[in-house]
Amino acid sequence: MDPLITIETLAPAAYARSLDELADLLHHCVAAGAPVGFLWPFSPADARAYFADLVPAVDAGKRIVIVAKAEGRIVGAMQLDLDMPQSQPHRAGGRKLLVHDSVRKRGVGTALMYAMEDEARSAGRTLVDFIAVAGGAPEKLYVSIGYTVAGVIPHYDRRPDGTPCDTAVLYKHLI
Ligand SMILES: CC(C)(COP(=O)(O)OP(=O)(O)OC[C@H]1O[C@@H](n2cnc3c(N)ncnc32)[C@H](O)[C@@H]1OP(=O)(O)O)[C@@H](O)C(=O)NCCC(=O)NCCS
Repeated sequence: MDPLITIETLAPAAYARSLDELADLLHHCVAAGAPVGFLWPFSPADARAYFADLVPAVDAGKRIVIVAKAEGRIVGAMQLDLDMPQSQPHRAGGRKLLVHDSVRKRGVGTALMYAMEDEARSAGRTLVDFIAVAGGAPEKLYVSIGYTVAGVIPHYDRRPDGTPCDTAVLYKHLI
């Protein structure tokens, strides 16, 4: 990865201080058309509200937020959801990989994914799964680092402009 970019897990206090920067990143990605769960119109305030809603989960250690920084500023983010049903103590969910387009194709997304997996292992989890838009750059990245596409659900989601898109269900057993 680009040596000027660092990866770090945000402790709860740092997460609370980072809401505006995380919101900037999410708003930037959605404005550019990334299908990550939101429809236009999507304001910076909407993006901040999404991350603010996660504060209790981050405080409780149920949601881990990992960021990439360049010159001290957040340029990428990935989340690990540890809040699973009682019967799935071995499982964790990957959530919302976001990389600012100014630093794409430098290995930041891949580094965030590996950092997320390290956090999952540290929490004793041996299976990570998530959904992602099918057939695009994100799916290619996930498969390149060992994720398996369990299947594709047609018209599962919508892009920010409202057009339907297909969604891949991905998983990886951590060893
Ligand atoms: C998908 C996304 C996270 C990828 O982030 P990224 O930081 O560009 O990912 P990486 O750099 O690790 O890998 C992307 C590509 O760059 C290549 N790459 C990595 N390091 C590189 C380097 N130093 N030089 C040249 N290419 C490099 C990778 O091999 C990969 O190539 P490929 O597309 O041919 O497979 C980013 O495009 C993004 O944030 N998109 C918008 C949000 C989104 O859709 N998120 C996914 C939700 S499911």
